Amino acid sequence: MTVYPGQVHTVTIEKLSFGGDGFARIGDCALFIPGTIPGQQVEIVVTKFRGNSAEAKVKKIIRKAKDEVMPRCQHFHECGGCQWQNLPYERQIAYKEDIVRETLLHLTPCDESVRANLPGRVLKIIPSPQVYHYRNKLELSFGFSSMRTEEQAGKRIYFDEGPTIGFHQPGQWQTVLPITECHLYDEQIGALLSDVRRFMTDSHLPVHNPKTHKGLLRTLLLRRGVHTGEMMIAFTVKARKKELEPVFQHFMRFAGRSGLKSLLVIENLGLNDKPEQPKVHCLAGKPTITERLFDLSFEISPFSFFQTNTLGAEKLYQMIVDGAQITQKDTVLDAYCGMGTIGQYVARFAQKVVGVESHPTAVEDALRSAGKNRIGNITFYKGRMEQVIGDQLSPDGKHTFTVAIVDPPRAGMHPKALAGVLAHKPERLVYVSCNTATFARDLGVILNDGYDLRTVQPVDLFPHTSHIETVAVLQRKG
Ligand SMILES: C[S@@+](CC[C@H](N)C(=O)[O-])C[C@H]1O[C@@H](n2cnc3c(N)ncnc32)[C@H](O)[C@@H]1O
Repeated sequence: MTVYPGQVHTVTIEKLSFGGDGFARIGDCALFIPGTIPGQQVEIVVTKFRGNSAEAKVKKIIRKAKDEVMPRCQHFHECGGCQWQNLPYERQIAYKEDIVRETLLHLTPCDESVRANLPGRVLKIIPSPQVYHYRNKLELSFGFSSMRTEEQAGKRIYFDEGPTIGFHQPGQWQTVLPITECHLYDEQIGALLSDVRRFMTDSHLPVHNPKTHKGLLRTLLLRRGVHTGEMMIAFTVKARKKELEPVFQHFMRFAGRSGLKSLLVIENLGLNDKPEQPKVHCLAGKPTITERLFDLSFEISPFSFFQTNTLGAEKLYQMIVDGAQITQKDTVLDAYCGMGTIGQYVARFAQKVVGVESHPTAVEDALRSAGKNRIGNITFYKGRMEQVIGDQLSPDGKHTFTVAIVDPPRAGMHPKALAGVLAHKPERLVYVSCNTATFARDLGVILNDGYDLRTVQPVDLFPHTSHIETVAVLQRKG
């Protein structure tokens, strides 16, 4: 049967696919439908067609899935942050496990006979210790709930209405969806957000308009150390030097709030919401908050990566340690180390650890934390893995890695970074991934270089979303 855009069909969703969309079939054609879950019968309209697969959107839900549950959040269908809140948690994680198996089977570029065995290496998923309120960080945008442009006498006039704080819905970078509840972030963060909303109304500070570039309030970052209770609030503003001092007075109303240990204002005069070279003003408290993982403490600054699910991260790190089997003879690489959390945890088992990270403030946080934790056998290199591993850290330099732990961003590893790690011929390679598709791509290269895949352990760090974290353990053959 030929499928083409605009066609309307009724289908039953069979399973969930990588990326979170529901999957159904029309004849030989695989259909991907966002916002659906297995068991639902839906009327859909085809939006895109390529080869033997198509994308579609839901027109109408004809029949609910048998095990469908009521989503907790009123914003579930519009916000885009959660995909599966209407699916019981046990089913969500069972699907994640299946998606890992299928992705490895279909996307790993290696010998057919090797590939057939990969799904058998995937272990039972470890659930998140908290199913709701597990996020220690919230990033929101100030903006307008409605914006439009009119041509008047040959001039463009921009109108904005409803200054608010919330999320950009997928594909809508201009307007902001006001969020009055979210069940993913920490409840103390939720209380702080209510204060920010009141502050917005009382202070009358103007909200930044991304079209006219007028206004002041741009973004808000809230962080909480789950084990320490320390909270950070960071406002990003567009204000020139002479405007800053009077603006600071407004923010000072947060200074005495219980639990708040870091009150920051970040200057961003650029066109983009992500400042290139941010200037951070610490109005009260300190520039970082402290969080503990196991017996270690970490100083977290606003821009450094820190796992968003603290209790889940401890499970993840335990899996890394168990898989890496580090001994006092080992020199361990902690690649893409962020603020060196993994490296500092494994340092006690190893002879020495070397961390590599490209984000400058994360490296500063790593150095500060390692000093505070009195870890003497760890060093950090600031730079891009693909450069550092072939340059300062090449195998003929001063370190030869016997164990490599790599935890790249969603894009996976740059080919030069992966080749550089493999040039060390580490005995064990632990690949921590937040994107199974790019992991499968890199896995093919690693297997072809003479490694066996021992285990792939999925760990759920992101309940109600389609994001999947895995820890893969590879052993060098012979
Ligand atoms: C998934 S995070 C892992 C952080 C850390 N391992 C942890 O568990 O907290 C990936 C890290 O890689 C860093 N990064 C991204 N691209 C990089 C590159 N090309 N070279 C080095 N680090 C990079 C990011 O800044 C981020 O801190």
